[in-house]
Amino acid sequence: MTVHIGAEQGQIAETVLMPGDPYRAEWAAKTFLDDAVCINKVRGMLGFTGTWRGNRVTIHGSGMGMPSLSIYANELIRDYGAKTLIRIGSCGGMQDAVKIRDVIIAMTATTLSTPSRGILRELNFAPCADYSLLEAAVNAAKSRETPYHVGGIYSSDVFYDERPDLNEQMVRHGTLGVEMEAAELYLVAARHKVRALAVLTVSDHLLTGEALPSEDRERSFGDMVEIALEAAFP
Ligand code: ADE
Repeated sequence: MTVHIGAEQGQIAETVLMPGDPYRAEWAAKTFLDDAVCINKVRGMLGFTGTWRGNRVTIHGSGMGMPSLSIYANELIRDYGAKTLIRIGSCGGMQDAVKIRDVIIAMTATTLSTPSRGILRELNFAPCADYSLLEAAVNAAKSRETPYHVGGIYSSDVFYDERPDLNEQMVRHGTLGVEMEAAELYLVAARHKVRALAVLTVSDHLLTGEALPSEDRERSFGDMVEIALEAAFP
């Protein structure tokens, strides 16, 4: 057990999918995994381990924002031996070509700061995805005919942003979407020499103001979960 994860040693798989929302972890585990067993409930942050096509997988919530994700990613890697971590979550679209329900496979993630800022200080480190996972996710999205985009995203520290000029600069520089976790996941993974990727569904759009109707969310998020699983086990 760790400070934030109640699982016993051996109860967490080497491959971990990380949605922000613990209830989405429960839904994804019950929908896509065989024999899913709950392995964590500490602070309501649910985690489940089961199998997908015979491969052991854990689906564990990360919470919202980089400080929360950082706690879980660190403990999953350092204390439980996780080797492949794939964030599955939602994001806001930032380009006209990016539509609601599309999937974004994040090659890199720009930030103002992350919990790793304390180590990196003035260094402008470029957090990037593991290429083997990225390539496998692209292949999975292609074969499923899911509309997808590959490129840079913005991992923001704030949902209620009081600096619209920053989003404008992100849009201007071709950033595909905004979320709040991937940059720190990529940094922690790089530090510990494990693989990481973020696969995101566009749930709202900063340019058009559209948002995914709640009844459509499950189906769209399901595509993303399957792309993440196929990327982990191509
Ligand atoms: N996650 C989903 N939509 C988002 C947005 N507009 N900003 C930050 N995180 C998000």
